Amino acid sequence: MQIIHTISELRAWRKTAGTVAFVPTMGNLHAGHMALIREARQRADQVVVSIFVNRLQFGQGEDFDRYPRTLEADAKLIEAECANAIVFAPDERELYPHVIQQYKVEPPAIQDELCGAFRPGHFRGVATVVTKLFNCVQPDVACFGKKDYQQLFVIQSMVEELNMPIDIIPVDTGRAEDGLALSSRNGYLSAAERAEAPRLYYHLARMKKAILGGERDYAKLAAEVVADLRIRGWSEIDYVETRNAKTLKPATHTDHDLVILIAARLGRTRLIDNLEVAC
Ligand code: PAJ
Repeated sequence: MQIIHTISELRAWRKTAGTVAFVPTMGNLHAGHMALIREARQRADQVVVSIFVNRLQFGQGEDFDRYPRTLEADAKLIEAECANAIVFAPDERELYPHVIQQYKVEPPAIQDELCGAFRPGHFRGVATVVTKLFNCVQPDVACFGKKDYQQLFVIQSMVEELNMPIDIIPVDTGRAEDGLALSSRNGYLSAAERAEAPRLYYHLARMKKAILGGERDYAKLAAEVVADLRIRGWSEIDYVETRNAKTLKPATHTDHDLVILIAARLGRTRLIDNLEVAC
């Protein structure tokens, strides 16, 4: 494993590399990221993992400053999973030398829905940094987690509409034994909050069962979830929505591929999760 900090060094390396599978991350890696790296290994000669906490996708008052930065531990995990991986870890000045990024990638209306409604500018920041990273790494394929379903959707549609020659590989959500989706932000949870957090997955699984059993009143199912989370002390429930898994448009009664998406705050920590339903 080799750590590269500059774009020029990465470009020099890229010239001699064969096919490349890319895993963009913000570091503080966990088993969910490792599944992406494992997938990447199957897809190309070389794996590049980027580690960059992207200021552009964090809103004011969000956790940019306290986001865990654990490069050394991350490098060890990557080494164990893929000994010849390249870790691309630029600092902020390397990726944003002008301090303010003037050219931005503007996603369509979906950027203002679901998480976008609560994190203005977030998906613009994601689309912009991912485009920059794609231009630095020039991968043949790139792996993204379904954990961030809306992000995966934005990246897939961006690559398609901007004709980027990159295959996007979706990877299933890695979960703890109690169902909680693995996330770097789980580290913010107190012991009591950690015990409560799997409630999100519990509700997703319950809604899925109800839909598979024929229930189509998605609003009623969502209202039940919101009521339960409120009673249990979740501080904000941003949304509980059932959408078309392919278009991310609100689900209709004739849709067969659905995804249920939840975002809610436990104490200070915002958690998201989702579950696909084929019915
Ligand atoms: P980060 O949150 O570090 O996630 C990096 C990648 O890991 C994303 O594709 C995400 O969906 C995936 N991932 C996270 N938790 C996962 C889990 N439990 N199971 C499966 N995959 C999981 O997402 C970002 O960083 C950033 O927005 C980034 C794309 C790097 C742009 O800055």
